[in-house]
Amino acid sequence: MTQTLEKPTTSAGAESANSEDELVIRDLHVVPVADRSREILRGINLTVRKGEVHAIMGRNGSGKTTLAYALMGHPAYEVTSGEVLWKGIDLLKLSPDKRGRSGIFLAFQYPTAIPGLSVASFLRTALNARSRPLDQGNDPDYDPSDMTRGGIKLPEFRKLLREKMALLKLDDSFAARYVNEGFSGGEKKRLEMLQMAVLKPEIAILDETDSGLDIDALRIVAEGVNAQLNPDLGVLLITHYQRLLNYIKPDVVHVLAAGQIVASGGRDLALRLEEEGYAPILAEAGLEFADADEDTPEPAEADSPSH
Ligand SMILES: Nc1ncnc2c1ncn2[C@@H]1O[C@H](COP(=O)(O)OP(=O)(O)O)[C@@H](O)[C@H]1O
Ligand SMILES: [Mg+2]
Repeated sequence: MTQTLEKPTTSAGAESANSEDELVIRDLHVVPVADRSREILRGINLTVRKGEVHAIMGRNGSGKTTLAYALMGHPAYEVTSGEVLWKGIDLLKLSPDKRGRSGIFLAFQYPTAIPGLSVASFLRTALNARSRPLDQGNDPDYDPSDMTRGGIKLPEFRKLLREKMALLKLDDSFAARYVNEGFSGGEKKRLEMLQMAVLKPEIAILDETDSGLDIDALRIVAEGVNAQLNPDLGVLLITHYQRLLNYIKPDVVHVLAAGQIVASGGRDLALRLEEEGYAPILAEAGLEFADADEDTPEPAEADSPSH
């Protein structure tokens, strides 16, 4: 029989009337499997609702990527305590694959080249995998990779792809390219944004981490996200780059440090970070940092060799 999803029986998850629309992270503690004695996240509390854009900012090494990976169930990270509820469901009990199918999208950080697989085929396969109902078990009559047994029909997919490529102002030839083969940083970001548009997640977790990310790639992400914003999409934008927030306007900005969210605010917090750096905000939170990572250069303007 099919596997059903258990709703938590604790009353804690039920206080919100519209838990269907929110990702709730409560007191999340995470260690890397490689070194369990080292707690990276030490009690993260955060709620992201559909229609909201949240930015998480923090210095290098503050645990931003760890948070993204823990939410997606990356095997290198272990959640030691806390809970994550998505639509009232215990997300941490779902396999990474089911987390994706439940409507959460994590942009891949270091995509690998897949020679011989076109962007169009890749996206169609991804969409079919995503469309498999969450509680759909091993029904032999259902195979989303087979268009006669539940997968999206080719004409329908082509129409969807055309629509999304137009939305993101992508050239037609992009669909025929091989996935990531010879892609510039900017093109990888275009693919990421197109994948997001095709999969139509309800919560997108974007970790803009690449130290080589140039301003061109940042703009592609920003324009891609802005084009997709709608009341049914929540965005958790994880970034080291204050400058990204000049292009994507978050509703809420959070500062991650010492494994916790030490400050949350509106856009004014992002502006303050831009002007003052992290030090004053961390000091207010009672934290002091010796490392001099403060002013990692922002990506350079208009010097991109890409495409
Ligand atoms: N798999 C891992 N094994 C051991 N330590 C890790 C692992 N992943 C991350 N860390 C450590 O956890 C801290 C946070 O890393 P990370 O989440 O990548 O930070 P950020 O994305 O904010 O730069 C860093 O000190 C990093 O060295
Ligand atoms: Mg990171």
